[in-house]
Amino acid sequence: MKKKVTKAIFPVAGLGTRFLPATKSVPKEIMTLVDRPLIQYAIDEARAAGIKDFIFVTSRGKSALEDYFDTSPELESVLRKGGKTDLLQTLKSTYMDSGAIAYIRQHKPLGLGHAVWCARKLVGNEPFAVILPDDVIAADKPCLQQMVEAYEETGGSMVAAMEVPPAQSSSYGILDVKAERGPVASVAGMVEKPAPGDAPSNLAVIGRYILSPQVLRNLGSIDKGAGGELQLTDAIAAEIDQGRDVFGYRFDGQRFDCGSKSGFLQATVAFGLAREDLRDDFEAYLHGLISMRQAAQ
Ligand code: UTP
Repeated sequence: MKKKVTKAIFPVAGLGTRFLPATKSVPKEIMTLVDRPLIQYAIDEARAAGIKDFIFVTSRGKSALEDYFDTSPELESVLRKGGKTDLLQTLKSTYMDSGAIAYIRQHKPLGLGHAVWCARKLVGNEPFAVILPDDVIAADKPCLQQMVEAYEETGGSMVAAMEVPPAQSSSYGILDVKAERGPVASVAGMVEKPAPGDAPSNLAVIGRYILSPQVLRNLGSIDKGAGGELQLTDAIAAEIDQGRDVFGYRFDGQRFDCGSKSGFLQATVAFGLAREDLRDDFEAYLHGLISMRQAAQ
């Protein structure tokens, strides 16, 4: 019987240089879409997928993340006294069960693969999920939940996949697809950041993974790859070479690259418009703004 996926790694040790100067003192994952930090979207998605153990790979300067998940007795008491039950509920959604969350440090930013490898002892010998909080996915059924359901049928390792324009292949890991059945693609190989002419397909890997524990062992033995970093893509591709199944999953939903300024702005607009309490005012503002810009051209 396949083991259930109950552990997730959240690699949050990157420097976030694309958001300097903000990220000098604020971790990227604490930056907010409307009123919730990126990390809250990631945690909610993991919870919906049945994750029970949350493993954060952090680095210096990320203590705001640990504080975010702590209890907040003073704030709680003020809200309770003021009868603000809705806000009290919102506050409590940030609390984690005792022992459910673990923090481990990546001492140097040696890349995503290395960050995941840092969590190997906490994961042990079972399948696990990886969530990159700066990929935010708007979906009716949360993306990781879609993947866990598919994984229960397929086993193996699974990566979230979406089509990208050929010119963007050098920003992603790209799948070499063997066969497709519905949203599930069997993968014959994976290439990290290929030039457009070298990309085996237009199916790119984005920041959700369900991985076999062998991937952690592979990370311990493979050489550094693209950019001189230990690449998670290479460790997953090694699974294929070792004769194990790897699948791409075409998730249903819209992904925002909140690690880039443009993606973050797009997500802010989309999530703002999706909020009932803000929609009317915000939409009217956007219409007004666009009309004004068109009139000025
Ligand atoms: P990015 O490639 O977006 O890098 O990492 P970054 O450092 O966060 O941001 P920029 O490019 O400097 O603006 C993708 C994910 O991998 C994590 C990041 O925290 C992010 O969630 N990561 C990256 C690590 O945990 N450690 C690393 O050494 C590199």
